[in-house]
Order: sequence, then structure tokens, then C-alpha cells
Amino acid sequence: MLYKCIAKHLCACLLISQLLFSPCISKCHFGSVEVFLIEYTGPLFIYFLFYFRMPFVYGLDERFTSSPHPVVNLACICHSFHYIKRLIETIFVHRFSHGTMPLRNIVKNCLYYWGFAAWLAYYINHPLYTPPSYGKKQINFAVIMFLLCEAGNFSIHVALSDLRRDGSKTRKIPYPTKNPFTWLFFFVSCPNYTYEVGTWISFTIMTQCVPVGLFTLLCFIQMTIWAKDKHYTYLREFKDYPSVRMPIIPFLL
Ligand SMILES: NC(=O)c1ccc[n+]([C@@H]2O[C@H](COP(=O)([O-])OP(=O)(O)OC[C@H]3O[C@@H](n4cnc5c(N)ncnc54)[C@H](OP(=O)(O)O)[C@@H]3O)[C@@H](O)[C@H]2O)c1
Repeated sequence: MLYKCIAKHLCACLLISQLLFSPCISKCHFGSVEVFLIEYTGPLFIYFLFYFRMPFVYGLDERFTSSPHPVVNLACICHSFHYIKRLIETIFVHRFSHGTMPLRNIVKNCLYYWGFAAWLAYYINHPLYTPPSYGKKQINFAVIMFLLCEAGNFSIHVALSDLRRDGSKTRKIPYPTKNPFTWLFFFVSCPNYTYEVGTWISFTIMTQCVPVGLFTLLCFIQMTIWAKDKHYTYLREFKDYPSVRMPIIPFLL
């Protein structure tokens, strides 16, 4: 039985890796906006499968039951809010310079976003889930931090989009605006990533769930790599680039 199960998983992994590295997949391209819409709609619906405890998730005895802990409902609202915000930004805010994206990226990104959404949702909505140790105080603190980080992330995306109001596709030096959330541009090159990491840290504090913490760590590592990349590109391209700025964490990293 166990061997059969392992063999099935190996076959699935093999198929996915064949798909990812096949020459066809690197030639096929899709519109960037459509790709992001697919990537972000997945987590939204996948999370609900666990939240509503569909029959195949935690067994028949638990089907369509709901958690007695209010924080589970709150986590569902915050998770949905996060991905709805991303969908809205994709449609109405971002001005992408690349019209299309290779099919390989869609498969890779969907595996990442959809897979992790299922993993987090499984634990947060599990019948044996236990709420945070410090109760309401911890949850309220986390919600406030979550909302501030979401507002910050949104403000940075608007500021970046405003750099292309003239319809250009070039990258310019982003500067702080009148909006206080953008003042993080004084200290870092990618404040949208800083705020995004803040969002996931808040979600970890709110749910006090180890898998959420691990996902947050992974997001942080991934965004630090990208932020460093973008930071060094800015330094290379602009001689007058502000020297105080760090890639993602003020004065540190
Ligand atoms: N949880 C995670 O693991 C994770 C990982 C990555 C991203 N995210 C989230 O997704 C959001 C978007 O990610 P991203 O990597 O696409 O962010 P990004 O590279 O900062 O780009 C955001 C938008 O701003 C534009 N832009 C960036 N810098 C610009 C500049 N100097 N001048 C003009 N336009 C500029 C980009 O255009 P281009 O089309 O030219 O790039 C893009 O349309 C992040 O802020 C974060 O909230 C989450």
C-alpha cells in the first residue's frame, strides 16, 4: 500500500518536472495579467475548501462543521482580503513592462501559491487547531499590524504605478510621496516586499501556526533575493541612486 502511494507521488513529480522542462513549455507565453489572475484566484478558492471543511478534507465526521475559535474566521477574512487585494492591484494598479510570461512560470508559480495556500489552510482550519496563547491581545495586535502592512504594500504599488503614468515601460528611481506609507522609500529599495513580509509575520502572530511561520520565512528569503537583485540593478543603472537605501530591511539587509 505504502509502496503504491510512494510510486504514485514519484510519477506525479516526474510528470511535473517533465512538464516544467519540456521545450514546448518555455516557448508558450501567456498575458502577464491573466497569469497573475490565475495565480491569485487559486489560493482564494483553495482556502475555502478547508475553511468549509469539504468532505474529503478532514473526513466525513467533520464535513461542513465550523471551528469554535473566532480567530479561524478572522484568518479566513484576512487571507481572502490579501488575495482579493492582489487581484484588484493586478487589474487596476500595476503597469507591467512585460506583456507576456512563459508557461513555465505559470506552472511554477501556481504550484507555489496554490500548494502553500492548501498547506496553511489545512492546519489553520484543522479540528485540532489551538488558538494563540495570548488570546485577544495577540490577535488584535496582529490584525492592526496586518492592516497597516496591507495599506503600506498597496501605497507602494500605487507609487510605482505612478512612475509610469506617462505610458512608458522604463524603470525609474521611486521616491517617497506625500503618503507616509511610502516614506519607507527613504530607507529601502523594495518597501513593497518589506510590507509583504510584515503582512505574513502578522498572519503568523494571529494564527500562531508553525506552517504559517515557515511559509513566512520562505517568502522572506525569496523576496530578499529579489530585492537584492533589484537594488543592485538600481545602483548599476542610476549614478545618483540614494546611498542610504538597503534592499529590504532598513540599515540591515
Ligand atoms: N508572498 C510572496 O512570496 C511574494 C513574492 C513576490 C511578490 N509578492 C507580492 O506581489 C507584489 C508584486 O511583486 P513583484 O515582484 O511583481 O513586484 P515589483 O517588481 O516591485 O513590481 C510591481 C510593479 O511595479 C513595477 N515597477 C517596479 N519597479 C519599478 C520602477 N522602478 N519603475 C517603474 N515601475 C516599476 C513593476 O513593473 P515590471 O513589470 O517592469 O516589473 C510591476 O508592475 C509584491 O509587492 C508582493 O506584495 C509576494
